[in-house]
Amino acid sequence: MSQVADILETCADAIEQTHADGTIVTRAGDLRSIRDFAIPRPCGALLERAVVATFDSEPKNTSAPHVVEIGLGSGLATLHLARGLLRCGISAPGAIRNADPGDYLDGAGELLLERADVADLVDLRREYSHTMLADLEREEHAVRFAFIDGAHLFDTALVDAFLVDKLLPVGGVIALHDLWMPALQTLALFLTTNRAYEPVTVTANEQLVAGPCESEKRGVDPDRVVSTRFKRDLLSYVDWHTLLLRKTEHESRAWDHFAPFWE
Ligand SMILES: C[S@@+](CC[C@H](N)C(=O)[O-])C[C@H]1O[C@@H](n2cnc3c(N)ncnc32)[C@H](O)[C@@H]1O
Repeated sequence: MSQVADILETCADAIEQTHADGTIVTRAGDLRSIRDFAIPRPCGALLERAVVATFDSEPKNTSAPHVVEIGLGSGLATLHLARGLLRCGISAPGAIRNADPGDYLDGAGELLLERADVADLVDLRREYSHTMLADLEREEHAVRFAFIDGAHLFDTALVDAFLVDKLLPVGGVIALHDLWMPALQTLALFLTTNRAYEPVTVTANEQLVAGPCESEKRGVDPDRVVSTRFKRDLLSYVDWHTLLLRKTEHESRAWDHFAPFWE
């Protein structure tokens, strides 16, 4: 087996074991439940497929980072992002740039990355997302995929998306998590009405398509949808509380542009 195949397997084992245990281990050896904050396994699988769909047809010679992730938490989402990149032949050190200022899990996220053998692939910055993303823009990095799962207030997630947009080429993808939350639903509405983003889903053969996913049951409980526009235009694209938005154009709005997006 090649080294990449070994890492893919070790990473898959770490994911399986963590879900089976329902816990991660801190540096002090304590167990912490993953139930309240880590992404569910199907959401991880979706992220992995979305990364493959985004990168598979792309030239592999751009410099790291390729993916930005906001919020490490348990590290489970990071493992899936890493698997997606590895499956596309991307194994550069620091291919995933992650911002997470807090270490409330006492090193458990980093330990999981080490156990899964993907720690080299991840450049974890213990800082807020807005400072890390501004640095990436200043350094003129381009990334093709961003997973936003940090602070879930409307304004912080909006700032994340605003700064991520500056790093994304046309065709790049933002994955928003926790679409059951009104703040995230509102952000998705803003990006799809005032900015050039279209909702996409991943097909079974790992292509991104501008069409709804096959089952609304895997999305958001319609009773928790706070806007009729979200229900009409975006709800059917949400899969495991995750919405993929693909950039269709660079910024081209008039200085006084504003499209009402909340109804
Ligand atoms: C819901 S958890 C992420 C869960 C993770 N995706 C997983 O699979 O375990 C949210 C994380 O975002 C981090 N966070 C909160 N505010 C942040 C910010 N402004 N910038 C970056 N990370 C932030 C928190 O410390 C926390 O680890």
